[in-house]
Amino acid sequence: MISSKAIDAAIETLFGNLEFQSRPAGLYDPLRYMIAIGGKRIRPRLCLTTYGIFADEITPSVLEPAAALEIFHTFTLIHDDIMDRSPLRRGNPTVWKKWSEDTAILSGDVMCIDAYKHLAKAPAQVLPQAMELFSKTASRVCDGQQLDMDFEKRSSVSMNEYMEMIGLKTGVLLACSAQMGALVAGADGWSQDSLYEYGYYLGLAFQVADDYLDAYGDQKVFGKPIGGDILNGKKSWLTVRAMEKGAEGLADALAAPALTPEEQAAKIARVMDIYASVDVAADARKAISDLSSRAVFKGSDAAMGADGVTVLENFAKSLLGRTA
Ligand code: IPE
Ligand code: IPE
Ligand code: MG
Ligand code: MG
Ligand code: MG
Repeated sequence: MISSKAIDAAIETLFGNLEFQSRPAGLYDPLRYMIAIGGKRIRPRLCLTTYGIFADEITPSVLEPAAALEIFHTFTLIHDDIMDRSPLRRGNPTVWKKWSEDTAILSGDVMCIDAYKHLAKAPAQVLPQAMELFSKTASRVCDGQQLDMDFEKRSSVSMNEYMEMIGLKTGVLLACSAQMGALVAGADGWSQDSLYEYGYYLGLAFQVADDYLDAYGDQKVFGKPIGGDILNGKKSWLTVRAMEKGAEGLADALAAPALTPEEQAAKIARVMDIYASVDVAADARKAISDLSSRAVFKGSDAAMGADGVTVLENFAKSLLGRTA
């Protein structure tokens, strides 16, 4: 078993020492920037956490795939911010805002390739499985991002469709992270699958929490502008649930154009009023808590002792503590 303190220290060193090519600066500066401004580093932390249930020492064999997971995730954020027109990420200007869209496209591309370079350094005996898991996951994230964009244009989306979409855009990468740690540590296939399920449900809980915080969070903590999902007409968990509850006027309110800051503030206020009228905030907190419990229930099937279950519970708590 590896302590969470040792994992925190390893993450700190790993990303503090990560190096990218220096020239052309226009291509690699945004990568250095995105890694330097941090983020919660959940995916490598999850990978090291499940690894640590089965192993006693952190070695490069797991640090390289852990780096690959975070670098891939950061690449998806660079492109996601263009797609969502988001000006702020991790409390700082997004790459497309700070440089340009062209820069964000190409720097994102090279970051995705860089992720694979790290993954290729996984131990030889697990490399084929690690490659297959990672690539399958990466293409599913794209599937989810496409559905997310398609849903913006639709007037209604069912809860099942929404859950499938977030499972793809967010769930599978947490699932892959949890399985990767177990795979590298040499855990059996059954345990790897159980931890994959743990990561998947944790990812669902995490995306519902992200949707919730997009409306009800504090920008200083969240690091992203509050109300961005509403302005984009996203079919977030809150929207889908409010529609399920028969909230009046929501589709129109979400589709309304808002160009000036005043129009934007009015659109956000109007949608928030509709959310409040059917009390979706409380429902969201309950859904997050239920999905998190389900994650731990699934993960407990892995061949590990009670200590392992505690590790999974603590990780879920640290991830969702503010919302579940
Ligand atoms: C943001 O992920 C995208 C979602 C899946 C909600 P994180 O909230 O993990 O972003 P960082 O890495 O901490 O910035
Ligand atoms: C992002 O979902 C998921 C991926 C980047 C694959 P969001 O669009 O909700 O993420 P944020 O809120 O911008 O971080
Ligand atoms: Mg998005
Ligand atoms: Mg986004
Ligand atoms: Mg979001």
